Amino acid sequence: MTTKAQYTDQVSERERRNLMLSHEAACEGIVLLENDGVLPLAPCKLALYGAGSQYTIKGGSGSGEVNVRHSVSVMEGLEAAGFEIVSKDWIDRYDAQWKAGKEQFLRGVRRKLWWPTARRIDALMGTEYRYPAGDLLTDKELAECGTDSCIYVLSRQSGEGHDQQDLPGSFWLEETEIRNILACAEHFRRFVLLINTGTPVDLSPLEGIQGIRAIVYMGQLGMEGGNAIASVLTGGHTPSGHLAVSWPKRYSDVPFGGEFAADPSHAIYKEGIYVGYRYYDSFDIEPRYPFGYGLSYTTFAIDRFSVRRQDDRILCAGRVTNTGKQYAGKQVVQLYVSCPGEDREYQRLVAFVKTKTLKPGESQTVEADFPLSVLSRYEQASARTMLDAGRYVLRAGSSSRDTEPVAVIRIEQPVVLRQHRNLCASTVPIAELTHANAPVAPDLVPEIAVPANVFTTQQIDYTPKPEILSERTRKVLKDMTVADYVKFCAGTGMMGENKGFRTPGAVGHTTADYIDRGIPNVELCDAPAGIRLERRSVQYADGSIRPVDVSISIYEYLPSWILHWFILGNPDKGKMLYQFVTAFPVPAMQAQTWNTELVERIGQAISEEMGEYGVTFWLAPGMNIVRNPLCGRNFEYYSEDPVLTGRMATAVTHGVQSVGGHYVTLKHFCANNQETKRHTISSDVDERTLREIYLPGFEMVVREAQPRAVMAAYNRLNGVYCPESRELCTDMLRAEWGFSGVVMTDWYSIMPDRADGVASIRSGVDLIMPGGEKDVKILAKACERGELSEADLRRAAARVIDALVMSRQAE
Ligand code: BGC
Repeated sequence: MTTKAQYTDQVSERERRNLMLSHEAACEGIVLLENDGVLPLAPCKLALYGAGSQYTIKGGSGSGEVNVRHSVSVMEGLEAAGFEIVSKDWIDRYDAQWKAGKEQFLRGVRRKLWWPTARRIDALMGTEYRYPAGDLLTDKELAECGTDSCIYVLSRQSGEGHDQQDLPGSFWLEETEIRNILACAEHFRRFVLLINTGTPVDLSPLEGIQGIRAIVYMGQLGMEGGNAIASVLTGGHTPSGHLAVSWPKRYSDVPFGGEFAADPSHAIYKEGIYVGYRYYDSFDIEPRYPFGYGLSYTTFAIDRFSVRRQDDRILCAGRVTNTGKQYAGKQVVQLYVSCPGEDREYQRLVAFVKTKTLKPGESQTVEADFPLSVLSRYEQASARTMLDAGRYVLRAGSSSRDTEPVAVIRIEQPVVLRQHRNLCASTVPIAELTHANAPVAPDLVPEIAVPANVFTTQQIDYTPKPEILSERTRKVLKDMTVADYVKFCAGTGMMGENKGFRTPGAVGHTTADYIDRGIPNVELCDAPAGIRLERRSVQYADGSIRPVDVSISIYEYLPSWILHWFILGNPDKGKMLYQFVTAFPVPAMQAQTWNTELVERIGQAISEEMGEYGVTFWLAPGMNIVRNPLCGRNFEYYSEDPVLTGRMATAVTHGVQSVGGHYVTLKHFCANNQETKRHTISSDVDERTLREIYLPGFEMVVREAQPRAVMAAYNRLNGVYCPESRELCTDMLRAEWGFSGVVMTDWYSIMPDRADGVASIRSGVDLIMPGGEKDVKILAKACERGELSEADLRRAAARVIDALVMSRQAE
């Protein structure tokens, strides 16, 4: 086997550079939620408590994990910034409790996995070590710590395979956490709460507590988290992050929250289009912190706002001034529109722009534009995308609840923008919420008239188009038969074959049987906050490669005999190989930067690391909409809003694919919005909701950045497994949006009681992952029996081969 992993563990120049980028993104993703002036805080003697002080969570668990050389904890970052931590006793006791708790937890899961079957492992993905809250703080301990400054770090781990719960220690704070936070708030003159979670938590027990002088949502910031938070707390970096999801006051405010993950076979999306702020704003429910919200150490003003139309786009410009006296900072200008109609949300985000760093007194003119089509609605009865006549109010501001009207857009006549077919209509009746919207159009703002003749109606043509293939692909396909095609339509298993090229840590591999014909085997690697690779591996004399470390938490659950016989290698018996990559802030925090230029640079950095270690498909970005704060993978996704999601994913796709032959994989397509029963649940969503909330992000990336791959989700959509849905995998993706890459399944989607491989290939899936000999045989047999056409196999193989021959690995 050949590899690009290196024989040295020296820190490279690329690592240093990307670490700085991770730091920059982490600083920019932090959201200041509350501050009565206590921040910034100069380095001082500091009492530090809470699970995340030392065990700071850099990112969630499961396939979203990234293995790094070192991740900086809050304690480490604060110490490096000059704070003297005076609560080391508590922290040391916590350390011992954490380790003992972890040991006990692992003993329990290993007992259940004494004979690990795929199903048992899968079931254990639903188990997560829950960090203890630590000792209750005593008055004596607080009195003796000798400082008036304190930080408490509240943490939650979450991840693949399990959702959070509406319970203490999960979405709620635990009794000990509440009591310790209250004790700190009472005792210390300067007390700051840091929240180190991938999704909102319920802060209602802290309501009205005077002594909490600042709350900072640090989220999960990747490997530079501790340094970044220190930089923001001390004023080295002025916070400029804004929330990408709404924080409800309490879980009972979440629409149909009580039904989330409750039914084992159906998730009925009763809230319809009213997701996140669309719900809170339309139904007058005050969130704790609204979508788009975030404070700064300085203040900003927006003026000289101008709005004009150019054809079917609206162009806006405005001047942003840093009106503060002391701190430089950045501001996010957000544009929302209230659309008129019987069943419309109060407002939707249509565009945003972030300023550069403005010094006190400095101004910048910023521009943002949007196509008028973002104001459309999907009319299910006629399967049309419509722009209704009426007056639309455009507002600008710095959060969804802090805006001023800046223009009225008057659509003169109703316009049909697109004539579709209903593709994924729900089969069960969904009694959805509705909200009549009649935006009040103020007189004092300019009105922009939009005549109907600036639009054209697009009739979607669903007839299959000929594949666009490279010359090289055409050539190799010429001599191939079904026996060859099937080998490209399935991967070679999680472990892969013992030949060809290998990136240690890859979770998928394509066939290595055709290397001599110029078709490389390529590697597929997770995950959205970076690439998950093995840091240390060993290569034996026969060329085979084994990892040395337990590099994904699920492996820790395996009995040690399995680990040592089947997974881990012995470093003393071969040559050591190293790979060191960067853990960036999780996508939920990247979205909080509202900085697409920065996210594109993260994409470029990931692409560089892919090139260095030979990764072809990056299994990200995760683009599911944050529908409910309990979803275990919220940290891997960007936002509750499709425009913010789409813009972020487009930026990272541009970055990754800026190098030819490095591909993104948009996932999980689509409506994979809970982890409970994710392999079988049917997301029952009406077509309008799909087209207005859950699909536009994917559509934006496909149209604007031509991603090379899409991963079909595990779940069923309105009763049909996503990979088996021709409507999703072919009609929507290819006919409607023009996608021309590879559609792959999610890992182990194809199982007897999950989706069917043959039906999936027929419907437009090209690659079954992680695949294996069994899948190859099943496909060949199905073709022999006439259940799968040669044309379908050839089409799928052609798309995969095209990606392979165009990959960097081919060089
Ligand atoms: C996850 C995917 C991931 C794949 C490979 C699946 O369990 O749902 O997001 O890319 O595993 O690790």
